[in-house]
Amino acid sequence: MNSRLGLRVRVEEDGRLALPPEVIARYGLKPSAEVWIDDDLDTLRLRRPLTQLAKVYVEPTNSCNLNCVTCVRNVWTESLGHMSMATFERIVEGLRAFAPPPVVFFGGFGEPLAHRDIVSMVTQAKALGACVELITNGTLLNEALARQLIAAQLDVLWVSLDGTTPESFADVRLGAALPQILENVGRFRELRSHGYYPVPELGIAFVAHHLIQFTREALRGEQNASYYSTKARGGEAGRSQAAHAGARHGP
Ligand SMILES: C[S@@+](CC[C@H](N)C(=O)[O-])C[C@H]1O[C@@H](n2cnc3c(N)ncnc32)[C@H](O)[C@@H]1O
Ligand code: SF4
Repeated sequence: MNSRLGLRVRVEEDGRLALPPEVIARYGLKPSAEVWIDDDLDTLRLRRPLTQLAKVYVEPTNSCNLNCVTCVRNVWTESLGHMSMATFERIVEGLRAFAPPPVVFFGGFGEPLAHRDIVSMVTQAKALGACVELITNGTLLNEALARQLIAAQLDVLWVSLDGTTPESFADVRLGAALPQILENVGRFRELRSHGYYPVPELGIAFVAHHLIQFTREALRGEQNASYYSTKARGGEAGRSQAAHAGARHGP
């Protein structure tokens, strides 16, 4: 599921586009389904039907070995716990009803790699035929776990950095050190498959504190200013997108 389409399709005389069966299956384009199309300069985007469940978020645990200053875990009073495999297997059973299966994203508030059965969870989600993603703080990504996640055919591994220097990283990610995370990520890159689209794909996530603060300053006094930050992901082939924080106007 890591591939990008890059297909060539022909416009018929009457303006219809004939999509290949694998695309129809992958996006659940059933006959008479209504789909939304929008464009962006020279790009035409065909959205997946709204009735098609796109992504399911699974929080294997809300426990964590770090104590980041930004984390919502600082202000909640929920009790901590790990998802039981019985609960997870019920989720998997429920997902069997969906064709194609939604993306399964292991994340939430907590550290997914702190769940002792996380590899089994990934394996079971992959057995559904789903694209599987996981976000981690990277501290527990030792060689053994990296090998297991790769063998389980994880599609995308997100690693949160929240800092670009050891100092700024340590300011936010209390309990972790940037050099250790970079070492773990570097080893993971070495161990996974190589090629034009290496698998698992690797993404970097961060809360863009300074950029958001900067845009807030720039838009001080502006009515209806809002802020967002995004993740960036990319392979080896220079396709990495820039992560950014931005501000947009309007309601
Ligand atoms: C809550 S963590 C859970 C997964 C894992 N423990 C990790 O740090 O990647 C998921 C993502 O949320 C981000 N995050 C932390 N605090 C946040 C906040 N207050 N608002 C938005 N995202 C936040 C983290 O940087 C991380 O990329
Ligand atoms: S590593 Fe993730 S879950 Fe843990 S405290 Fe940091 S942001 Fe929160």
